[in-house]
Amino acid sequence: MFEPFMGEEKPAETPVAEAKPAEEATAVTATLRVLILGASGMLGTDMADEARRRGWDVKTPPHEELDISKPDHLEKLRVQDWGNLDWVINCAAYTAVDKAETEFWLAQALNGTAPGILAMICKRNKQGFVHISTDFVFDGDAAEPYNEDHETRPQSKYGQSKRFGELNVQKENADAIIVRTSWLFGPNGKSFPRTLINRWREGKSLHVVADQTGTPTYTADLARTIADMVERRVSGGIYHAAGPDVMTWRDLAEKAIFAWRAHFGPAEQAVDVHGIATTDWPTPAKRPPYSALSTAKVQALGIPPMRPMGDALGEFVSRLGPDAPTA
Ligand SMILES: NC(=O)c1ccc[n+]([C@@H]2O[C@H](COP(=O)([O-])OP(=O)(O)OC[C@H]3O[C@@H](n4cnc5c(N)ncnc54)[C@H](OP(=O)(O)O)[C@@H]3O)[C@@H](O)[C@H]2O)c1
Repeated sequence: MFEPFMGEEKPAETPVAEAKPAEEATAVTATLRVLILGASGMLGTDMADEARRRGWDVKTPPHEELDISKPDHLEKLRVQDWGNLDWVINCAAYTAVDKAETEFWLAQALNGTAPGILAMICKRNKQGFVHISTDFVFDGDAAEPYNEDHETRPQSKYGQSKRFGELNVQKENADAIIVRTSWLFGPNGKSFPRTLINRWREGKSLHVVADQTGTPTYTADLARTIADMVERRVSGGIYHAAGPDVMTWRDLAEKAIFAWRAHFGPAEQAVDVHGIATTDWPTPAKRPPYSALSTAKVQALGIPPMRPMGDALGEFVSRLGPDAPTA
């Protein structure tokens, strides 16, 4: 009857990223040719939409046609069978956080090994490479939002596989852009807010973990930030990109349901979300108790922060529509 979270995942000085000169940063003249991996996923769908909205020439090979764990598929990318590309954006991953505890080899293959090979291919082909990583690379002992230089210490197999991927990407391609994000939600997949909204609509009791804190991130806003980074051709390295509001899973549940109720009602149905402790809802994979991400480095590039959570949730629920089918 308790409601689990469904999320996957002492700062030093505020880092200041190396921004390109203004003329260069905005000078996107030719149409960008971009291949998006994992374009059927929660982030990938919004990434592809955002890329098309900007007029980019977008390829979205399905998993079956470009499986990042298959050497012959990667070879086709290497020899440019997918055409001339300016960028590859990797939203593909193994994202089953709890299952990774018993399928570590698979998580490692997709999240650890494959990203390094993709990074190497892009370097050889002189293509930009964006790879997505996670707040779950941290141990959760911090008291304020993590910046990019903070020591990593993943607490789960999933977190280990993602950290392994970061290291492999950096080893193979110093120009690669690694975007760490957190607590994703969007209309194109299973997400915690969606699950909680549906439970509330069904009149079920809501007991949600209240001692884990993070920065929920709306996939459409993250896609916009990633696209801005691509258009500005930011220097290679790790960047944190996440929503601006720090909150617990319980807070997020409440805000999501309020957003739903404001759009679709019924106004008279109470929103009663009870906080529970992580120990009341044991999961195979350990989550960091605190994993908020500082986005100061991205903002120092002139890229605006994402919308406040209330606005992002408002758009999210309106995209779900009044039926909010279970993903
Ligand atoms: N979800 C979160 O809360 C969260 C938080 C922080 C970071 N992240 C990171 O953000 C990124 C996007 O996450 P997401 O939640 O959008 O993931 P998702 O919805 O689970 O989508 C994963 C995508 O990867 C594809 N894929 C899986 N295995 C593949 C393979 N072997 N070859 C090619 N494609 C494959 C899937 O295709 P099929 O569906 O066809 O298999 C799907 O399109 C990931 O790197 C994830 O680690 C996620």
